Amino acid sequence: MKYERSIIITGGAGFIGSHVVRLFVRKYPDYRIINLDKLTYAGNLENLRDIENEPNYRFCRLDVCDLEAVTALMKEENVDGIIHLAAESHVDRSIRDPFIFARTNVLGTLSMLQAARLCWEPKAYEGCRFYHISTDEVFGALEMTRPEGGKDGRGPYGSKLFKEDTPYNPHSPYSASKASSDHFVRAFHDTYGLPAVITNCSNNYGPYQFPEKLVPLFINNIRTRKNLPVYGKGENVRDWLYVEDHARAIDLIFHRGTPGDSYNIGGFNEWKNIDVVKLLIKTTDRVLGRPEGADDDLITYVTDRAGHDLRYAIDSSKLKTELGWEPSLQFEEGMEKTVRWYLENEKWLERVTSGDYLRYYEQMYGAK
Ligand code: NAD
Ligand code: TYD
Repeated sequence: MKYERSIIITGGAGFIGSHVVRLFVRKYPDYRIINLDKLTYAGNLENLRDIENEPNYRFCRLDVCDLEAVTALMKEENVDGIIHLAAESHVDRSIRDPFIFARTNVLGTLSMLQAARLCWEPKAYEGCRFYHISTDEVFGALEMTRPEGGKDGRGPYGSKLFKEDTPYNPHSPYSASKASSDHFVRAFHDTYGLPAVITNCSNNYGPYQFPEKLVPLFINNIRTRKNLPVYGKGENVRDWLYVEDHARAIDLIFHRGTPGDSYNIGGFNEWKNIDVVKLLIKTTDRVLGRPEGADDDLITYVTDRAGHDLRYAIDSSKLKTELGWEPSLQFEEGMEKTVRWYLENEKWLERVTSGDYLRYYEQMYGAK
């Protein structure tokens, strides 16, 4: 079959990537969707079981750093679009092992850019698009000038929000590697004319997130009655967005974003960590039929994360004004859906926390 478009989505077996792959495979049966993923500890093909047999879907186990193999795949599939999500994504891991973050996030992005250039420059980039998914963490930390929050005790917790032109000021090895990759994407646009677009999104939550990140880790710990390690005083603020709202924004920007531009994506939804944790306990206990307050004593304040950014908050008004995107879910509603999903998918949680799925890939594809 001749497809209308042929798109590589990198990191499609991960958390956000799996939602983007699912959305594109289902919404665009005339597009060829190629999921390019190395299947690190964070990649899990079980996240895509429901679409893996669709005729327009293909999975390729590849490393984004493998320029030769990526270029060959692009030629074979006549690829005209790349949505680049593959990355090492966990701040705590970046503090322990920064080198893999530089390799995957910086060199891996450079390799994807170079593959795109090699394949697309000869046809003057006609009909092509490179979309780089980045994070709000590249902007650094915002001040908390209103620690008491707004009138209902919620955010905004300060007068400033991250805008598209906020200067980059990353603090963690993770955010430094993402900032560096963003600079390379801009450089390829400005130097070679690569039609590239970048988005910087706030913290995502929802189904299929690896349970090392706050939301799924804590749901799992409440479920199994383990301690909830809150870093510092739990006063740090994050701006939370439901993952399907992010995937919708990616769809819109891939098709209608202006090359050379960047867009901030966020929910105007600032929460202090401790308030997120209390909401998670309340929701999980209610869904499990445990009495209110039954698990409050699981909260355990632990040593703060090194270089812990105090506050992130995104101004996504450009995306709203230019492309009409808005988040669709209130946080409490999204959290309820999320908690229910993890509790209904205990087997998924158990498999990813036991590492069984990694052994499964090693048997299927060999250790990498
Ligand atoms: P994730 O860790 O869940 O998934 C990353 C995926 O990339 C995995 O499937 C992994 O196997 C794959 N991968 C890693 N190294 C690879 C390599 N060398 N070659 C090929 N594939 C490789 O990450 P996520 O949370 O879904 O984040 C996806 C993207 O979105 C990242 O670029 C991240 O920086 C960005 N982002 C994430 C958030 C968030 O809250 N999770 C917010 C904003 C932006
Ligand atoms: P995380 O989910 O790791 O995302 P990010 O670091 O990209 O924002 O963490 C969200 C917030 O929760 C962050 O401020 C760190 C905090 N946190 C804890 O307090 N305890 C934990 O065990 C984890 C994983 C995170």
